[in-house]
Amino acid sequence: MPLSIHQPPVRDSVTDQHQDNPDADALFWQLIQGRRSIRRYLPRPIDRALLEQILSAATWAPSAHNRQPWRFCVIESQSAKLALSQAMAARWRRDLAGDNADPDFSERRIAISHTRITGAAGLVVAAVSMEEMDVYPDPLRAEAEWTMAVQSTALACQNLLLAAHHYGLGACWMCAPLFVPDTVRGIFNLPETWHPQALITLGYPAETKEKERLSLEERVLWR
Ligand SMILES: Cc1cc2nc3c(=O)[nH]c(=O)nc-3n(C[C@H](O)[C@H](O)[C@H](O)COP(=O)(O)O)c2cc1C
Repeated sequence: MPLSIHQPPVRDSVTDQHQDNPDADALFWQLIQGRRSIRRYLPRPIDRALLEQILSAATWAPSAHNRQPWRFCVIESQSAKLALSQAMAARWRRDLAGDNADPDFSERRIAISHTRITGAAGLVVAAVSMEEMDVYPDPLRAEAEWTMAVQSTALACQNLLLAAHHYGLGACWMCAPLFVPDTVRGIFNLPETWHPQALITLGYPAETKEKERLSLEERVLWR
Protein backbone atom coordinates (compact mmCIF):
# COMPACT_ATOMS: atom_id res chain seq x y z
CA MET A 1 0.00 0.00 0.00
CA PRO A 2 1.04 3.64 -0.36
CA LEU A 3 3.83 5.05 1.70
CA SER A 4 2.57 7.26 4.50
CA ILE A 5 4.54 10.32 5.46
CA HIS A 6 5.26 8.69 8.82
CA GLN A 7 7.00 5.72 7.28
CA PRO A 8 10.62 6.21 6.38
CA PRO A 9 11.29 5.16 2.80
CA VAL A 10 12.92 1.79 2.28
CA ARG A 11 16.52 2.72 1.60
CA ASP A 12 18.70 0.98 4.18
CA SER A 13 21.69 0.69 1.90
CA VAL A 14 21.45 4.40 1.12
CA THR A 15 21.19 5.23 4.82
CA ASP A 16 24.33 3.20 5.40
CA GLN A 17 26.22 5.63 3.22
CA HIS A 18 25.03 8.50 5.41
CA GLN A 19 25.82 7.03 8.79
CA ASP A 20 28.39 9.74 9.33
CA ASN A 21 25.61 12.36 9.22
CA PRO A 22 22.25 10.82 10.16
CA ASP A 23 20.84 14.19 11.28
CA ALA A 24 21.31 15.66 7.81
CA ASP A 25 19.61 12.62 6.32
CA ALA A 26 16.65 12.93 8.69
CA LEU A 27 16.35 16.65 7.95
CA PHE A 28 16.41 15.97 4.23
CA TRP A 29 13.55 13.48 4.47
CA GLN A 30 11.62 15.73 6.83
CA LEU A 31 11.83 18.45 4.20
CA ILE A 32 10.81 16.21 1.32
CA GLN A 33 8.11 14.21 3.08
CA GLY A 34 6.90 16.83 5.54
CA ARG A 35 5.88 19.40 2.91
CA ARG A 36 2.14 19.40 2.38
CA SER A 37 -0.24 21.56 0.41
CA ILE A 38 -1.62 23.88 3.08
CA ARG A 39 -4.73 25.87 2.20
CA ARG A 40 -5.67 27.62 5.47
CA TYR A 41 -3.49 30.27 7.04
CA LEU A 42 -3.15 32.29 10.19
CA PRO A 43 -3.72 36.05 9.87
CA ARG A 44 0.00 36.72 10.29
CA PRO A 45 2.05 38.60 7.71
CA ILE A 46 5.22 37.20 6.18
CA ASP A 47 8.34 39.36 6.39
CA ARG A 48 9.54 40.67 3.05
CA ALA A 49 13.02 39.27 3.84
CA LEU A 50 11.57 35.78 4.23
CA LEU A 51 9.66 36.09 0.95
CA GLU A 52 12.91 37.11 -0.73
CA GLN A 53 14.69 34.12 0.78
CA ILE A 54 12.03 31.76 -0.55
CA LEU A 55 12.09 33.36 -4.00
CA SER A 56 15.86 33.11 -4.00
CA ALA A 57 15.57 29.37 -3.33
CA ALA A 58 13.18 29.16 -6.29
CA THR A 59 15.76 30.68 -8.60
CA TRP A 60 18.33 28.01 -7.69
CA ALA A 61 16.31 25.42 -9.56
CA PRO A 62 17.83 23.93 -12.69
CA SER A 63 16.56 25.36 -15.96
CA ALA A 64 16.94 24.54 -19.63
CA HIS A 65 20.18 26.16 -20.90
CA ASN A 66 20.23 27.93 -17.50
CA ARG A 67 17.99 30.58 -19.12
CA GLN A 68 15.85 30.86 -15.96
CA PRO A 69 12.56 31.41 -17.82
CA TRP A 70 10.57 31.78 -14.59
CA ARG A 71 9.06 35.10 -13.61
CA PHE A 72 7.36 35.85 -10.30
CA CYS A 73 4.94 38.51 -9.16
CA VAL A 74 4.50 38.78 -5.39
CA ILE A 75 1.18 40.04 -4.09
CA GLU A 76 1.10 41.32 -0.55
CA SER A 77 -1.70 43.90 -0.42
CA GLN A 78 -5.19 42.81 0.53
CA SER A 79 -6.71 44.96 -2.22
CA ALA A 80 -4.64 43.19 -4.88
CA LYS A 81 -5.61 39.76 -3.52
CA LEU A 82 -9.25 40.80 -3.59
CA ALA A 83 -9.00 42.15 -7.13
CA LEU A 84 -7.39 38.92 -8.34
CA SER A 85 -9.94 36.72 -6.61
CA GLN A 86 -12.88 38.72 -7.94
CA ALA A 87 -11.57 38.85 -11.49
CA MET A 88 -10.81 35.13 -11.58
CA ALA A 89 -14.19 34.37 -9.98
CA ALA A 90 -16.03 36.33 -12.67
CA ARG A 91 -14.35 34.29 -15.42
CA TRP A 92 -14.81 31.02 -13.54
CA ARG A 93 -18.50 31.77 -12.93
CA ARG A 94 -19.01 32.32 -16.67
CA ASP A 95 -17.18 29.07 -17.52
CA LEU A 96 -19.16 27.06 -14.97
CA ALA A 97 -22.44 28.54 -16.26
CA GLY A 98 -21.34 27.51 -19.77
CA ASP A 99 -20.82 23.98 -18.41
CA ASN A 100 -24.39 24.09 -16.98
CA ALA A 101 -22.97 23.51 -13.50
CA ASP A 102 -25.35 23.73 -10.57
CA PRO A 103 -25.20 27.44 -9.48
CA ASP A 104 -25.03 26.58 -5.76
CA PHE A 105 -22.17 24.18 -6.37
CA SER A 106 -20.38 26.81 -8.48
CA GLU A 107 -20.77 29.49 -5.82
CA ARG A 108 -19.47 27.13 -3.13
CA ARG A 109 -16.35 26.39 -5.16
CA ILE A 110 -15.82 30.06 -5.92
CA ALA A 111 -16.25 30.95 -2.23
CA ILE A 112 -13.63 28.35 -1.21
CA SER A 113 -11.19 29.74 -3.75
CA HIS A 114 -11.91 33.30 -2.59
CA THR A 115 -11.24 32.43 1.07
CA ARG A 116 -8.03 30.70 0.10
CA ILE A 117 -6.71 33.59 -1.98
CA THR A 118 -7.73 36.42 0.32
CA GLY A 119 -6.79 34.44 3.46
CA ALA A 120 -3.21 33.87 2.35
CA ALA A 121 -0.62 36.26 3.75
CA GLY A 122 1.15 36.32 0.42
CA LEU A 123 0.59 35.19 -3.14
CA VAL A 124 3.11 34.43 -5.83
CA VAL A 125 2.10 34.32 -9.47
CA ALA A 126 4.57 32.09 -11.29
CA ALA A 127 4.88 32.79 -14.99
CA VAL A 128 6.97 31.61 -17.92
CA SER A 129 8.75 33.90 -20.32
CA MET A 130 10.19 32.69 -23.63
CA GLU A 131 12.24 35.87 -24.12
CA GLU A 132 15.61 34.18 -23.61
CA MET A 133 14.71 30.71 -24.81
CA ASP A 134 15.81 29.39 -28.20
CA VAL A 135 13.63 30.12 -31.21
CA TYR A 136 12.91 27.41 -33.79
CA PRO A 137 11.09 27.65 -37.12
CA ASP A 138 9.39 24.27 -36.79
CA PRO A 139 6.52 23.52 -34.39
CA LEU A 140 8.09 20.37 -32.92
CA ARG A 141 11.21 22.05 -31.62
CA ALA A 142 9.32 25.23 -30.71
CA GLU A 143 6.93 23.17 -28.58
CA ALA A 144 9.82 21.28 -26.95
CA GLU A 145 11.43 24.59 -26.05
CA TRP A 146 8.15 25.84 -24.55
CA THR A 147 7.81 22.63 -22.58
CA MET A 148 11.36 23.03 -21.26
CA ALA A 149 10.54 26.54 -20.09
CA VAL A 150 7.40 25.33 -18.32
CA GLN A 151 9.29 22.41 -16.77
CA SER A 152 11.99 24.77 -15.52
CA THR A 153 9.37 27.05 -13.98
CA ALA A 154 7.70 24.09 -12.27
CA LEU A 155 11.05 23.10 -10.77
CA ALA A 156 11.48 26.64 -9.46
CA CYS A 157 8.02 26.41 -7.91
CA GLN A 158 8.93 23.13 -6.21
CA ASN A 159 12.02 24.81 -4.74
CA LEU A 160 9.74 27.62 -3.57
CA LEU A 161 7.33 25.17 -1.93
CA LEU A 162 10.16 23.33 -0.18
CA ALA A 163 11.76 26.56 0.99
CA ALA A 164 8.40 27.77 2.34
CA HIS A 165 8.06 24.52 4.28
CA HIS A 166 11.62 24.78 5.55
CA TYR A 167 10.88 28.25 6.94
CA GLY A 168 7.66 27.16 8.65
CA LEU A 169 5.22 28.47 6.07
CA GLY A 170 2.36 26.61 4.47
CA ALA A 171 1.91 26.88 0.73
CA CYS A 172 -0.33 25.57 -2.01
CA TRP A 173 -0.06 25.56 -5.78
CA MET A 174 -3.28 26.74 -7.47
CA CYS A 175 -3.64 26.12 -11.18
CA ALA A 176 -6.27 28.84 -11.76
CA PRO A 177 -4.01 31.31 -13.66
CA LEU A 178 -3.51 28.70 -16.39
CA PHE A 179 -7.19 29.08 -17.26
CA VAL A 180 -7.26 32.89 -17.13
CA PRO A 181 -3.74 34.06 -18.05
CA ASP A 182 -4.91 37.30 -19.65
CA THR A 183 -6.98 38.20 -16.58
CA VAL A 184 -3.99 37.67 -14.26
CA ARG A 185 -1.66 39.57 -16.59
CA GLY A 186 -4.14 42.44 -16.81
CA ILE A 187 -4.83 42.75 -13.06
CA PHE A 188 -1.15 43.06 -12.18
CA ASN A 189 -0.04 44.84 -15.32
CA LEU A 190 2.43 42.05 -16.09
CA PRO A 191 4.50 42.19 -19.29
CA GLU A 192 2.88 40.63 -22.36
CA THR A 193 5.78 38.17 -22.48
CA TRP A 194 4.79 36.64 -19.13
CA HIS A 195 2.56 33.55 -19.35
CA PRO A 196 1.01 32.91 -15.91
CA GLN A 197 1.23 29.26 -14.90
CA ALA A 198 0.33 29.04 -11.25
CA LEU A 199 -0.69 30.93 -8.17
CA ILE A 200 1.13 29.92 -5.00
CA THR A 201 -0.61 30.86 -1.77
CA LEU A 202 1.61 31.33 1.26
CA GLY A 203 1.04 31.83 4.97
CA TYR A 204 1.67 30.49 8.43
CA PRO A 205 -0.31 27.23 8.59
CA ALA A 206 -3.70 27.06 10.29
CA GLU A 207 -4.11 23.37 9.46
CA THR A 208 -2.12 20.18 9.28
CA LYS A 209 -2.45 17.69 6.46
CA GLU A 210 -1.44 14.14 5.80
CA LYS A 211 -0.98 12.57 2.41
CA GLU A 212 0.30 9.29 1.13
CA ARG A 213 2.18 8.24 -1.93
CA LEU A 214 1.91 5.21 -4.13
CA SER A 215 4.66 2.64 -3.85
CA LEU A 216 7.57 2.68 -6.26
CA GLU A 217 6.26 -0.59 -7.70
CA GLU A 218 3.23 1.28 -8.97
CA ARG A 219 5.17 4.01 -10.69
CA VAL A 220 8.62 2.75 -11.65
CA LEU A 221 9.83 0.33 -14.28
CA TRP A 222 13.35 -1.08 -14.01
CA ARG A 223 15.06 -2.31 -17.15
C1 LIG B 1 0.33 21.37 -11.22
C2 LIG B 1 -0.42 21.38 -9.92
C3 LIG B 1 -1.66 21.99 -9.84
C4 LIG B 1 -2.35 22.05 -8.63
N1 LIG B 1 -3.52 22.75 -8.58
C5 LIG B 1 -4.17 22.86 -7.40
C6 LIG B 1 -5.34 23.67 -7.30
O1 LIG B 1 -5.76 24.33 -8.26
N2 LIG B 1 -5.96 23.73 -6.11
C7 LIG B 1 -5.50 23.05 -5.00
O2 LIG B 1 -6.11 23.14 -3.94
N3 LIG B 1 -4.37 22.30 -5.05
C8 LIG B 1 -3.70 22.19 -6.22
N4 LIG B 1 -2.53 21.48 -6.29
C9 LIG B 1 -2.01 20.78 -5.08
C10 LIG B 1 -2.30 19.27 -5.15
O3 LIG B 1 -3.66 19.03 -4.93
C11 LIG B 1 -1.42 18.55 -4.11
O4 LIG B 1 -0.05 18.77 -4.40
C12 LIG B 1 -1.68 17.06 -4.08
O5 LIG B 1 -2.99 16.78 -3.63
C13 LIG B 1 -0.70 16.32 -3.16
O6 LIG B 1 -0.74 16.85 -1.86
P1 LIG B 1 0.57 17.41 -1.14
O7 LIG B 1 1.04 18.60 -1.93
O8 LIG B 1 0.16 17.79 0.24
O9 LIG B 1 1.61 16.34 -1.16
C14 LIG B 1 -1.81 21.42 -7.47
C15 LIG B 1 -0.56 20.81 -7.56
C16 LIG B 1 0.14 20.81 -8.75
C17 LIG B 1 1.52 20.19 -8.79
